[in-house]
Amino acid sequence: MPVTPLAPLARTAEHTGLTYIVTGGGSGIGRAIARQLGAAGARVVVAGRTKERLDDTVDLLASQGADALAVPVDVRDAQAVDDLVDRAVDHFGAVDGLVNNAAGNFVCPGIELSPNGWKSVIDIVLNGSFHCTRAVARRLRDQGTGGSILSVIASYAWHGHPGTVHSAAAKAGVLAMTRTLAVELAPLGIRLNCLAPGPTETAGAGAALWPTDQARDQVLSSVPAGRFADPTEIADAALFLLSPRSSYLTGECLTVDGGQWLGKQIYGSRPTA
Ligand code: HXC
Repeated sequence: MPVTPLAPLARTAEHTGLTYIVTGGGSGIGRAIARQLGAAGARVVVAGRTKERLDDTVDLLASQGADALAVPVDVRDAQAVDDLVDRAVDHFGAVDGLVNNAAGNFVCPGIELSPNGWKSVIDIVLNGSFHCTRAVARRLRDQGTGGSILSVIASYAWHGHPGTVHSAAAKAGVLAMTRTLAVELAPLGIRLNCLAPGPTETAGAGAALWPTDQARDQVLSSVPAGRFADPTEIADAALFLLSPRSSYLTGECLTVDGGQWLGKQIYGSRPTA
């Protein structure tokens, strides 16, 4: 049977001219995704609560020759999110994709968690991701262009983890939202996927999840690969899920965690190099 030749690869150009909104783009994984998108030719709207951090990301993108716009927004505010999408379209002419990366997190035993602590994380992660997804999907529908929506979650969305009941419930909700809307929106050419990073070397995650050397060592010992992820490794996976390279992939979750969630130590000892 004849083999259809593959289209030539143009890795650095695959996002050229496309506009993406990245929430939580002022730091950590969000900033790394924004930078990689910029390096791949995209225009990037970085959204988040702290203007100075967003401006720093825009400056970084500008220094690598990429076009970016900072828009301060709290994703908990649905009207502000609608305004964010309007700003993106006014500035760049269209929007082609979204990265739901904004998150709030801290470790707290469930029975100690206050109702407001629960609500804050659910509002940022689950409600915020829905507000952004809804606003961008409506725009993509009206443009008739299709597009790609990626949500950053965590593997404890499916296996749970002590101290993360608020975040795990919120991220599980985002996964269910993604799978549901992937089916609803596929006929419009809109793809939705999730990315579940393992422990990643960022200031925000470190402060929230491994604030002491002891906690850090404990997290590290849970990763079969024996190290934290670099944010650029997570961003590379994000770019694949956003790009036409994954054009038949929707409603999925890609785990990028050095084997952490599969590597729970129950019997015997962990293999060493
Ligand atoms: C217990 C806490 C708490 C803590 C806050 N709260 N921190 N409870 N332990 N460490 C409670 C407060 O007491 C309050 O409840 C409620 O949460 C809201 O707190 P505020 O500070 O008023 O809320 P807000 O300013 O909206 O801040 C939201 C936040 C905050 C989530 C609490 O931490 C935040 O904005 N974080 C954003 C950055 C972030 O967390 N990055 C980490 C992402 S890393 P009361 O009852 O007192 O009013 C990540 C990685 C996951 O997500 C995957 C890893 C594998």
